[in-house]
Amino acid sequence: MDYMIAVIPGDGIGPEVTGEAVKVIEKIGGKFGHSFVFSYADAGGAAIDKTRQCLPGKTVDICRAADAVLLGAVGGPKWDSLPGEKRPEKALLGLRKELGLYANLRPAILFEELADDCPLKPEIVAGGIDILVVRELTGGIYFGERGTTMTKMGPAAYDIEQYSEGEVRRIATTAFEMAMKRNKKVTSVDKANVLESSRLWRRIAAEVAEDYPEVEFGNFYVDNAAMQLVRDPKQFDVILTSNLFGDILSDEASQVTGSIGMLPSASLAEGNFGMYEPVHGSAPDIAGMDIANPSAAILSAAMMMRYTFGLDKEAEAIEKAVASVLAEGYRTADIAEEGRETIGTAEMCRRICDAI
Ligand code: IPM
Ligand code: MN
Repeated sequence: MDYMIAVIPGDGIGPEVTGEAVKVIEKIGGKFGHSFVFSYADAGGAAIDKTRQCLPGKTVDICRAADAVLLGAVGGPKWDSLPGEKRPEKALLGLRKELGLYANLRPAILFEELADDCPLKPEIVAGGIDILVVRELTGGIYFGERGTTMTKMGPAAYDIEQYSEGEVRRIATTAFEMAMKRNKKVTSVDKANVLESSRLWRRIAAEVAEDYPEVEFGNFYVDNAAMQLVRDPKQFDVILTSNLFGDILSDEASQVTGSIGMLPSASLAEGNFGMYEPVHGSAPDIAGMDIANPSAAILSAAMMMRYTFGLDKEAEAIEKAVASVLAEGYRTADIAEEGRETIGTAEMCRRICDAI
């Protein structure tokens, strides 16, 4: 059986890190006897340069024909002056909607070896951080009605936050299913003291919670959640939240670990289809210099093995290899403490492949 993977290298360091992740997937294929077949497509700035569209229809077709998508990153200063609808980032939103990727999983893990990179006091993070942000990805204010209007205070613009019961039930179910395989705790984050959409969110999340009596369930208002994430991040296991709050809290959670260059993500649709990408951006300032950290892209490939292909052993092999290379003391520049020797993108990947 062939596993079909669409690769969207994208912009900046995207092509480098996805190139390394592909090498790791090939290594896994060789070691475990699987055949991974890659097809390549453009999105973001790379696509704008070639086709003047950030998300060509052909790219969506290539993704649909695959079982999973591996994405690098999109965007960069070259396209920053384009109007909102034409920006590279719009490609991400288009892919999410077109491919039905409603469940965004963003783990924030503090690697033991990298505890020094964590900006919080050691006593706050002792024992490690292992949070999974489950962000709703195809609804809410990102995709609600928007427009402009005239008011007494002059021209105005609006974006509507709307969630249906079905959308909340679906993402809440994902969060609880994840929690069952982890530490059995779900914290739903909303703004139910103010927003009607959040009150619906909270009611449906509580309904879904009833189906998972083993899972400890609670709610936080988003302002409190933002505070708790830096005050006591260890209290969290799975954070369940909306598209906008999840955008913000997942960035905060990644910074709490101090090593965004290590963090992967998955965006899942119904069935096992998923798109996998590093949490970090395109980092155009270091593109092409062989200094980017390929680990987040490589760990995204591990998530792909687990969630789309159901290849748990293979996923673990990748994750263990990354951890062992860290344990041996190898670091790319972004995660190296001062004075430590660093290695480049390709060497980091080669060492991870060797460790598999
Ligand atoms: C992210 C990004 C995107 C988002 C942008 C680039 C549209 O910030 O993936 O978190 O807001 O979802
Ligand atoms: Mn974001």
